[in-house]
Amino acid sequence: MTLDVSGVDPDRIPRHVGLILDGNGRWANARGLPRTAGHVAGEAALFDTVEGALEIGIEWLTAFTFSTENWSRSDEEVEFLMWFNEDLLTRRRDDLHEQGVRMLFAGDMDDPRIPDRNRKHMAEAARMTSGNTSLHLVFAFNYGSRREIVDATRALASRVASGALAVDEIDETLLAGSLYVPEMPDVDLIIRSSGEHRLSNFLLWQAAYAEFYFPGILWPDFDRQALLDAVIDYQGRERRFGAAEDLSRID
Ligand code: IPE
Ligand code: MG
Repeated sequence: MTLDVSGVDPDRIPRHVGLILDGNGRWANARGLPRTAGHVAGEAALFDTVEGALEIGIEWLTAFTFSTENWSRSDEEVEFLMWFNEDLLTRRRDDLHEQGVRMLFAGDMDDPRIPDRNRKHMAEAARMTSGNTSLHLVFAFNYGSRREIVDATRALASRVASGALAVDEIDETLLAGSLYVPEMPDVDLIIRSSGEHRLSNFLLWQAAYAEFYFPGILWPDFDRQALLDAVIDYQGRERRFGAAEDLSRID
């Protein structure tokens, strides 16, 4: 399927889109299937959306695939999600590489609960695609934004303690550059499926001026057309970044 992007203003494409994939369990439940079937269906939705991002010309796409809070799900579901993430990487990696997609991973990768095999596959995918530039695809895996900010603060504090950095030198740029993906730009548009209206500890720092879009559909029903709809909706908004409304525009 190819998108009709003629309604998109090429000068106002959101540079970075964040995706909170939500509703896989409910999608499966509604069909009398186990929750894991919802995650399987969610994979196709995610990679159709990735293709859409390439077609639209979005530079950065960050998908929340496993949160630090997701460990509290049942052992079976956590085990499945670990296996599924690893399996998905090995199946998708070469295709993504061919499409020029750079794969990155944001999260606490030192967590001993992450199986070594996952860690290895993530590192491999990141290394293999590190020179690609058509799309920066970030998997927020074992990701929690407060933890990310705490980790960055610790890194800066230890540089201060060692005398390598002065307290006065700490500013927004330095803190942003100490987050999991230092070169990640602020997120312009955050999409959360399934009708929930929460940020759930996702990109708190990066979302300072983000626009939000909440399609009512469950994640497995999301696709590239839904991404395009979100981008067109976004382009209809006026972003002021704290400045006053431009009254000269009103006649
Ligand atoms: C999102 O769907 C899947 C993950 C990011 C792990 P959910 O598993 O949260 O589905 P619901 O909210 O229970 O329907
Ligand atoms: Mg959910």
